[in-house]
Amino acid sequence: MCGIVGYVGEQAALDVVLDGLRRLEYRGYDSAGVAVVADGALAMTKAAGKLANLEKALSAEPVPSSSTGIGHTRWATHGPPTDRNAHPHLDEAGRVAVIHNGIIENFARLRHELERAGVTFQSDTDTEVVSHLLAAEVAAGAELGDAMRTVCRRLDGAFTLVAVHSEAPDRVVAARRNSPLVVGLGAGENFVASDVSAFIAHTRDALEVADGQVVEITPDTVVLTDFDGAPVPERRFHVDWDAAAAEKDGHDYFMLKEIAEQPKAVADTLLGRIDEAGNLTLDEMRLSDDELREIDKIIILAAGTSYYAGLVAKYAIEHWTRIACEVELASEFRYRDPIVDRGTLVVVISQSGETMDTLMALRYARDQGARVLAICNTNGATIPRESDAVLYTRAGIEVAVASTKAFLTQIVACYLVALYLGQIRGTKWGDEVAGVLRDLAAMPPKVERVLASMEPVRELARSLADATSVLFLGRHVGYPVALEGALKLKEIAYMHAEGFAAGELKHGPIALIEDGVPVFVVVPSPQGRSVLHDKIVSNIQEVRARGARTIVIAEEGDETVEPYADHLIRVPVCPTLLQPLVAVVPLQVFACEMAAVRGFDVDQPRNLAKSVTVE
Ligand code: G6P
Repeated sequence: MCGIVGYVGEQAALDVVLDGLRRLEYRGYDSAGVAVVADGALAMTKAAGKLANLEKALSAEPVPSSSTGIGHTRWATHGPPTDRNAHPHLDEAGRVAVIHNGIIENFARLRHELERAGVTFQSDTDTEVVSHLLAAEVAAGAELGDAMRTVCRRLDGAFTLVAVHSEAPDRVVAARRNSPLVVGLGAGENFVASDVSAFIAHTRDALEVADGQVVEITPDTVVLTDFDGAPVPERRFHVDWDAAAAEKDGHDYFMLKEIAEQPKAVADTLLGRIDEAGNLTLDEMRLSDDELREIDKIIILAAGTSYYAGLVAKYAIEHWTRIACEVELASEFRYRDPIVDRGTLVVVISQSGETMDTLMALRYARDQGARVLAICNTNGATIPRESDAVLYTRAGIEVAVASTKAFLTQIVACYLVALYLGQIRGTKWGDEVAGVLRDLAAMPPKVERVLASMEPVRELARSLADATSVLFLGRHVGYPVALEGALKLKEIAYMHAEGFAAGELKHGPIALIEDGVPVFVVVPSPQGRSVLHDKIVSNIQEVRARGARTIVIAEEGDETVEPYADHLIRVPVCPTLLQPLVAVVPLQVFACEMAAVRGFDVDQPRNLAKSVTVE
């Protein structure tokens, strides 16, 4: 969702804020805006559309130099993405500027109350009520921090709020409830932001802000309290990646860079997970082995690509642990009266660790007594913080909205959890666990080999740029891979794309097949389960007989598929459960090239955001 940054220090605030916004733009890009405090007044500029529009506006009409500023990139919720609705929002006297991420649920009532008191609103946003409420508190004599605490107590919903006041130079105040916020700790300067990437070029020392807390920063101080003003203990952390990791590194798009990083991401996720005695270790384990032995059901909850990683993981979890495993969309979970108790292990998967649907599902599961294990890529994010145990995917920062390396590492992390459970519950012997770990360790070079053979896939994408629809088929673990392939194409190439279980084809989707429709088919290894393989070869023939242009992903040496493949994409031989790690790569590359050739913004597709912090 929205990207937020605030700065106080010796540097030119505008430069620091704009640089931070550039790094946060992946969170939302409907509009952008900045405000700085200079000479007892606020200067504000904002513009609809991407950050480039704001930069243009700022060069046409520069703001005065200042050492205190805030900035925002927006993913619109209340009101269309216009200049008027862009953040910051001011009070009537133009003394308070506020930026916001989230939704203020009681804004209509508050707006009505303010309007009755004679306030005129400038925008359609929920945010603007906060500017007016803060201004009223300050006018009544409150300090900005106290004003923020008082106002927060009146707000329902989820929010990160950041405010500056014209008469409080060198001070930025921020608050958080159910929406991300971190503090960057510098020397003679401090930062607040939605995530650490905004200030990583300046400092790698950071401070967590928990739900229900307000933070006030000046160049030399950071004061953290709850909404009632009581001091709260600080939790500092150090960020273990640097600004260079957030750059494109010679690639045209972040997505390409992130696709290329997959071998390393998989290797890093496996790194150091096995202790000297050959036992698996997880990152933050607040669950004992005895508790894990009591588990009689696993429910995986996630959204988007993370959900598809969960669908893949189900096959391994049930096979290796013999524990029943359900996978459910986080946004659906708590509305269906799910059966959850102390014997349920809920595994939440989230790249960002901030997805609101997943967070709410997690909280519901915990309220019902479930133990929760998070698989997450972002240290210190809300989801791992609220879980009983955490396994971090070490994919490194993912900037492109379309998730790639997170998917692979999430599958690997889930497999580690499954092996861990198998190990402590005795459904897998030590040598069997070691065997799978060896197979996993062999995956990075295999993914590398796939990456090195992608030119024909890019050519294929270019030749299909005018297709109106692309279908994806798979069976077993290849089915979620098909779903993920279709999602990638929808997200960034804006094409109609659908993934199906190949066996379900005859029950409806086959009616979609007509002359020339491209159909990707993910073929399982003939060596793993030959029945599965033979069934899907029949499915390829069925669609081809009806005119489909078949694009077959099959392992090296599988000759049976050759007569039925209009295009054949080879992937290295892997154990059945590990094939998704190589089979998804051509689908990612295909979608990326398709988006580029169709002239779309690969990294920042329309209407989407990287981290979705509203339900
Ligand atoms: C958004 C992103 C997707 C992502 C999903 C879940 O919709 O655009 O790429 O898969 O959120 O995100 P999470 O951070 O929870 O994995």
